Amino acid sequence: MSRYALAPGAVRPRRLRTTPALRRLVSEVRLHPADLVLPMFVKETLTEPVELQGMPGVFQHTLDSLVAAAEEAAEAGIGGIMLFGIPADRDAIGSQVDSPEGILNRAITACQEAVGDRLVVMADLCLDEFTDHGHCGVLTDTGAVDNDATLDRYAAMGIAQARAGAQVLGLSGMMDGQVAAVRDALDTAGFTDTVIMGYTAKYSSAFYGPFREAVESQLDGDRRTYQQDPANGREALHELDLDLAEGADIVMVKPGMPYLDVLAEVAAASPVPVWSYQISGEYAMVEFAARAGAIDRMPAILESLIGFKRAGADAILTYWATEVAQELAARK
Ligand code: PBG
Repeated sequence: MSRYALAPGAVRPRRLRTTPALRRLVSEVRLHPADLVLPMFVKETLTEPVELQGMPGVFQHTLDSLVAAAEEAAEAGIGGIMLFGIPADRDAIGSQVDSPEGILNRAITACQEAVGDRLVVMADLCLDEFTDHGHCGVLTDTGAVDNDATLDRYAAMGIAQARAGAQVLGLSGMMDGQVAAVRDALDTAGFTDTVIMGYTAKYSSAFYGPFREAVESQLDGDRRTYQQDPANGREALHELDLDLAEGADIVMVKPGMPYLDVLAEVAAASPVPVWSYQISGEYAMVEFAARAGAIDRMPAILESLIGFKRAGADAILTYWATEVAQELAARK
């Protein structure tokens, strides 16, 4: 007998880890396809889908291939899709955002018609893909991002997206007062049931790199005057208070993996659903590490997503949404 044998009655946490069935029964959180939201890119000038170099397995879509991928996502049972548009023409104020003919608005309508009965169609509400300078807002004469003038554009964009059929609007621009402005505009236009998901705590992150390729960002510089400093966790709770007071229906913490502490604190404090976004750089890290043979791809993906659930996310935006939903179904 080992000289270190535990005494009778000793606590043995390993007891609950002995079989797969027991481990499954006692798991504190689980992933479900309905928790997953797929971000998707549609590009106006394409005739064929294009795979992204920085995000293997993710595509810039044509309108047709977008709808086909949305069908596949709905078939897999995910909770929703989040649409991003890449317009043919950009200008200083992002004129395409509130044109019914704008690529994102057309994509919303097409997806809503195809899959709106089976999943939630959401749209990114921000100017950055549509401005020729790549900032999330309009600029002053001196080139600074003009917070309050930007709110007028967000309000117009919100109405156009609601009109196109989006059920949830993802306000990702990090302008002060954006939730209140869009809520007021929607309600005044009669869209009282359109849901606002506020990107409550959105950090200025190096991990957005591959996304900027995906949307062909025109940004020269950074977003540090509006996105949060990665050092500031407590500030997220201040942003949460403001978004709730302004009427956010759902709040978001983004990026995900480097900010799980923030997610946990926001989840503990929020009375409304809390989502998180596993962003492009997080996707790329796992994909390229797996390609290099350094990690086992699917277990790493699932573990990363369980981390979000454990930290308190009610739903997760992830570029693996469809694949993970299919994987979960196959394991049942
Ligand atoms: C900006 C926006 C960004 C992402 C979604 N919306 C990034 C940015 O600030 O440039 C990033 C998503 C990702 O990296 O996957 N509207």
